[in-house]
Amino acid sequence: MCGIIGYIGYRNKKEVAIKGLKSLEYRGYDSAGIGFINDKVYVFKKVGRVDELKDVVNNINATLVIGHTRWATHGGVTEENAHPQTDCSNNIMVVHNGTIENVDELRLRLKNHKFNSETDTELIAHLLEEELKETEPLKALELTLNQLKGSYALVIGIKGVNKLLFAKQDSPLHIGLGKKEFFLASDIAAFVEYTRKFVPLMDGDYGYVSLEGYKIFNKGKEVKRDVLEINWEIKEVEKGGYPHFMLKEINEQVDVVGNALAVNTSNIEEMISNAGSIHIVAAGTSYHAGYLLKLLLEKYKGIESDIVIASEYIFTKRPNKDTVVIAISQSGETADTLQAIKFAKRRGARIVGITNVMGSSLTYLSDEYAIMNAGLEVGVAATKTFTSQVAIAFKIVFGGRVNKEKIKQTLTSSLNIDIASLAKKCINYDKMFFLGRGLSYPIAMEGALKFKELTYKHAEAYPGGELKHGPLSLMDEDAFVFAFMPEDETFAKMIYSVEEVKARGAFVAAASPGNVDKVDALLKVNKEEMPYQLFSFIPLLQLLAYRTSVLLGNDPDKPRNLAKSITVE
Ligand code: AGP
Repeated sequence: MCGIIGYIGYRNKKEVAIKGLKSLEYRGYDSAGIGFINDKVYVFKKVGRVDELKDVVNNINATLVIGHTRWATHGGVTEENAHPQTDCSNNIMVVHNGTIENVDELRLRLKNHKFNSETDTELIAHLLEEELKETEPLKALELTLNQLKGSYALVIGIKGVNKLLFAKQDSPLHIGLGKKEFFLASDIAAFVEYTRKFVPLMDGDYGYVSLEGYKIFNKGKEVKRDVLEINWEIKEVEKGGYPHFMLKEINEQVDVVGNALAVNTSNIEEMISNAGSIHIVAAGTSYHAGYLLKLLLEKYKGIESDIVIASEYIFTKRPNKDTVVIAISQSGETADTLQAIKFAKRRGARIVGITNVMGSSLTYLSDEYAIMNAGLEVGVAATKTFTSQVAIAFKIVFGGRVNKEKIKQTLTSSLNIDIASLAKKCINYDKMFFLGRGLSYPIAMEGALKFKELTYKHAEAYPGGELKHGPLSLMDEDAFVFAFMPEDETFAKMIYSVEEVKARGAFVAAASPGNVDKVDALLKVNKEEMPYQLFSFIPLLQLLAYRTSVLLGNDPDKPRNLAKSITVE
């Protein structure tokens, strides 16, 4: 979701900007733009892909450059609305991630200005233009920020100023530290090729980078921030011989799961044991991992917790100082999840973060956190990060007793199951149902999410026992049912559910170590004790979605309308 790159230094500006934007593509976008400054401001924009933008950008000899991939929020997908946005005199160029809320009020204040777009971002350029009439750039930025309500990561170039200005509020922004060169980016992937050292900015930070160095301010005072080191390799931004990042990342699960299990969770375990109440908050795939954590805590440790969809948290929960909130987010930047934990923190709750991104907002907002160390996940659909989240859930519940080899073997054997013919079958169905019960229900939920994300077909997850309360009316020859059937106490009941849907004409596939003779297709997975058996289902649901998406001609790495990191509410 929107990506920013800014650069000041000795390298070719067009090249740094284009490469930076290419590496941000995975976040999702609909248009892109680049702006340079030398004797004047040059802006190039294009609706569509960065590769198309590249062809229309002149190689301007400049000191600094900014670039942006836009995911439309205020205003349609047009060249005018793409960033950089400029002021009336074309002296200021601004790229922005986030949403400004007091747009109407600001427009009134700027009624003498000429606007060229429908964006909230353009207002920022005009506000700064006003402030620059009275004062120097940094102060003008501070005065501009004081007028904004909403979220922003901002990078700004001003003609005649050999600095890139920046500001961050509720949207990620990092400074990449090179030798006599500096980068500003919403994601470290944009500069990992040039430097591994970076500074994650905090909410309320603003300042500048110049050829001489950088300065960060917060509430009018200069502040120092941690310098961190990137913990993954540049090769992770490449497909490494696979046709898609998603397939590469599915196959990487066996290795990265070991990194997640190596994380020390003892402080987290202690916080959970002493908590008055436990709320688990997350969105999408992370929610499913959270759901599993909830079930595992209850079943194997007798600890009760509530699992809440992050965007619903502020409407439904009243945490207090005895509450521990476990927030799960691979990016650590999901606005809904951050909003939930900020709310919980204000009410005195303590926060545990589970994330893949060191230096993400979630790590800074958490009292304790666990980093999955799954490496960069480029595919929009979460795969290896889900498995890593589930692995951390196992570690929290079973501590040092968790059996790493068993998890790895279980994943490996399922990765070898051929799912191609089942995917071929799926393309003929438009009604997909994923069934599970007990511990396999969150797996079914993840199956349905992955399938709908990638194939654009309607897919729903149900606990088998719920079918008779409504969904059975949908079962006919046009329905495809995928059942997850571990040999635990749910097995016999799932057999009944399978018979129920089969009797109504649905095509039924099952993944199970047991004998399920009533189904049309059985994916026989290796027998494993519960809850380890769950890992045998994960690659299957991912591969089914992936293969079906490829057969349908979709791009599994960039499903339509979706973005990797959802940094707006
Ligand atoms: C997963 O395939 C999705 N792309 C999406 O549901 C994702 O899990 C969700 O947006 C949460 O993201 P997070 O883990 O970065 O917070």
